[in-house]
Formats: sequence, C-alpha cells, structure tokens
Amino acid sequence: MNDFLIYESKRFHYLWLRDNCQCHPCRHDSGQRLHETWLLDSKIAILTSETSNAGVKVIWDTPDQHESFYPHDFLMANCYDKFPTSGDKLPRWGSDFQMTSYDYAQVLEDDAVKLSWLNDVIKFGIGKLHNVPTNPSTILNVVSEFGFVRSTNYGDLFEVVSVEKAENLAFTPLPLSLHTDNPYRDPVPTLQLLHCLVKAEVGGVTALADGFKAAEILQKEHPKAFELLSTYKAKFRFASDDAILEHSGCMIETDKQNQIMAVRINNRSCAPINVPFDIMSSFYEAYQLFAAILHSDACKLTTTLESGELIIFDNQRVLHGREVQAIGARHLQGCYADRDGLKSTAATLVNKVV
Ligand SMILES: [Fe+2]
Ligand SMILES: [Zn+2]
Repeated sequence: MNDFLIYESKRFHYLWLRDNCQCHPCRHDSGQRLHETWLLDSKIAILTSETSNAGVKVIWDTPDQHESFYPHDFLMANCYDKFPTSGDKLPRWGSDFQMTSYDYAQVLEDDAVKLSWLNDVIKFGIGKLHNVPTNPSTILNVVSEFGFVRSTNYGDLFEVVSVEKAENLAFTPLPLSLHTDNPYRDPVPTLQLLHCLVKAEVGGVTALADGFKAAEILQKEHPKAFELLSTYKAKFRFASDDAILEHSGCMIETDKQNQIMAVRINNRSCAPINVPFDIMSSFYEAYQLFAAILHSDACKLTTTLESGELIIFDNQRVLHGREVQAIGARHLQGCYADRDGLKSTAATLVNKVV
C-alpha cells in the first residue's frame, strides 16, 4: 500500500504531510510547529483526500479524524519529488565577471535597489557599492542596512593601512595571495566588507576569485586532489599578544552529496599541515594545484577600488587578495558580518518590493 499521495504528479509522503499540517492546533500563530514530530504515527494513513486547484484536503485515519488542507503554493514551494534535494545552483564566475555596482544613496532610498545589491551577494557571493561616504566608520552604517557587525579581536572594524610592527600581514603594504579571512575562527565570519576611503597612489590592486568555480575546476580536472582537500583538514592559527586562535577545517568543504559548501584558504595562517604521513606529498600537491587554479587567468579577477567604493563578499566562497604592493596613503576599512542577517533582510524585502 502506498504511503504517499500524488498532487500535480509529485509524490508527498503521508507522514510528511501530517507533519506539515498548517491548521491551527498544529501551528502557532507565529507559524511554528506545535505538535511533536517524534510522537506522530509513522504508519499514518488517510481516510479521504480531495484535490482541487487550490490544493489538497486530507482527512486522516486517526481517532479524531484530523483534517488538513495543503494550499497549492505550499506544496509546490516545498515539493521534494523529482527535484535535486541539495543542488546549489548559484552561478559561478571567473576573471571576466562584470560586477554590478550600486549607488549607495539609491540603496538607502529604494528597497528594490537594495534588494538587487543583496541578491548579488547571495547569488555571486559578492556585491559592490559606490559613492559610499568616505568618513571613517561609515562601513558600520552599511552593515546596519542588512544585518549585524561581527566583532572580533580586531574590533568592530579593522583598518587596512600600513603600520609599523604589524601583527598581521594585512596591515602592511605587501602583496597578499588570494585567501579567505580568519579560517582560524570557529565559526568563521561568513561575510566581509571592504570600504576604500583613500585609494593608493600606485598599486593596491584588489584580486578576487570565486572559490566555488576554482573548486569545481579542481574536481573536474583533478578529482583525487579534490577528494584529498575535501577529506583531510588543515589547521589554521593566529597568535598575537591578546589572542590565540586555532581551528582545523577542510580547504574545500563538501556535504555528503559532494556539493561544495565552503572554501578555506589562507597561506599566511596555515599552520604546519598534519595529515597522515602517507598522504602528505599528495596533499601538498592537491593544495598547490588548487591555489594555482585560484590564481589562474580563468579565475582571478583584478580591480582597483576607488575611494567611496565598497565590496561585500561571502568569506566562505570568495577569496580576496592584494595584487601589487600599495604605495602611498592607501586606507581601507574592513569589517565582518554574517550571511543569515543579509539573507533575512533580502527575504523580507522581497515582500515589500513586489
Ligand atoms: Fe583578508
Ligand atoms: Zn493539523
């Protein structure tokens, strides 16, 4: 006997349907579930079901003959039959990516423009603004437009300027290879913002790369290397007078369906690699291959941030670096935030904008 019903040629399990009953005793006004899923009868059956364009009405074969109604839109939005269940379909980009830049004043005034900017971050892992006032700390106002600052031992924000006796290479004018920030943290900040207050006289070119695209190239061309980087963890470490941070994670993080979920690359803060002896040589080879793909002409995009420009990027997907030594009084401010707040703001804007 079937344990599912078919609506618009999609199958829905009885238990799944019962669990997702939208009626009042089953759901609180907030939409949160009131019944306990673990107490439902896993062999639940239906007495009758009635399908219409509006959805499906079910009367359950339970002592109380519980009645449920599933609106068409609910079923379509949550359908799990004949759809990839874990595919992330975000578009990948390479060195020829034309990033859209949004005017900051328009973002503040117009929810549709703000939504486009946030959607770029969700889709491409990166979004850009221009005409952001170059007063110090404006970056914190930008964050408050979509979420919350993630404070760290570097403070609410950090200055990217050259300082004497820098505790971190980021605070020197030296070139920096492509990296994700702070892989030594757990959890890692999922968003980073960089705001250019003063452009370098010469150099200070920003390099960017889509880590998901590079990981896909590695997966296709060197599957063994991909497997090593997504199986064995690398240790990352940062130590200063007031912080000792250490965390281990895969350079390419995948889920059980082998979907790429995150990348973690940072040459400066990679601690001595401690994979098993027999793996060490091939692990190094895999790491070098991945970094070479990231820095290749196919993946690496270079751009010079102008004063008043601000980029925001997914720190678990997009890598950034400094291409050429900066000469002159270059001044950037950076800060961290998190993806959940940004996605939430975008989701609520969708309702306002339509
Ligand atoms: Fe960085
Ligand atoms: Zn119910």
